[in-house]
Amino acid sequence: MTLRHKIGKLFRAESYRRMWRHVERILAPLPLRPLRARIDQQRLRELQQRHASPPPDAPAHWRHYSKYLDLDKYLRINARRVQYLRLHRSPPKDILDIGCGAGFFLFVAQACGHHGLGLDVDKVPVFDELIDLFGLERMIAHVRRLEPIPDLGRKFDLITAFSPAFHGGRNTSWDWGVREWDYLISDLERHLKPGGRIFFGLNPAYNGEFYTDEILQLFLRRGAAVERENIFFPPKSA
Ligand SMILES: C[S@@+](CC[C@H](N)C(=O)[O-])C[C@H]1O[C@@H](n2cnc3c(N)ncnc32)[C@H](O)[C@@H]1O
Repeated sequence: MTLRHKIGKLFRAESYRRMWRHVERILAPLPLRPLRARIDQQRLRELQQRHASPPPDAPAHWRHYSKYLDLDKYLRINARRVQYLRLHRSPPKDILDIGCGAGFFLFVAQACGHHGLGLDVDKVPVFDELIDLFGLERMIAHVRRLEPIPDLGRKFDLITAFSPAFHGGRNTSWDWGVREWDYLISDLERHLKPGGRIFFGLNPAYNGEFYTDEILQLFLRRGAAVERENIFFPPKSA
């Protein structure tokens, strides 16, 4: 079967899965109101005022990341992520979220009974304060090309990375290839408990695509379920 056929088949199966997931979201909703109720609204308002307009000399990415002050938007997106991974209907899991940013995904996951650790690079004030407001644990570390991530002191049932930026981006010339992704997946596997899984929700970082053909083939060879940007690897064997 050619790669074109394989991709066509994937996309047809994908539209059925998307439809089914939509039905599942209706049958098992994850409403925002109880999530909002867990947040200190006074602190949130102060934080939003403080970070709405970063000083003119602030780094450009601070301005970009002030979009995360739109709480409802990002709670909604991350409630969907939690539903996609069926975390709202599963026993407590230990979750590592790489490139956790403001921590919305872990916040929603923790509200569903899970325990999370975020990993991200240097401090962005709006991320620091939202992480603190959400009461999350975070480690500062870089994911670097062909280097192991640091020892995290424990193993995880689930390792996620949503819209990660460690592999390059729309405007970079250093997008990771097969070798780097293969290395990262093997490295992350070392941090999984038996039965643990890895999930990537990718950005269209490869000229508007989520991955190249070669990277897609790597994901499939490693047994991942690939649904557009969503890559879900099979459970680690005991
Ligand atoms: C587009 S944001 C996504 C944030 C969050 N995952 C979300 O979906 O809302 C990319 C995140 O990756 C982090 N990041 C960038 N380079 C990284 C690296 N080398 N290692 C770890 N995290 C990195 C950024 O600081 C930022 O939090």
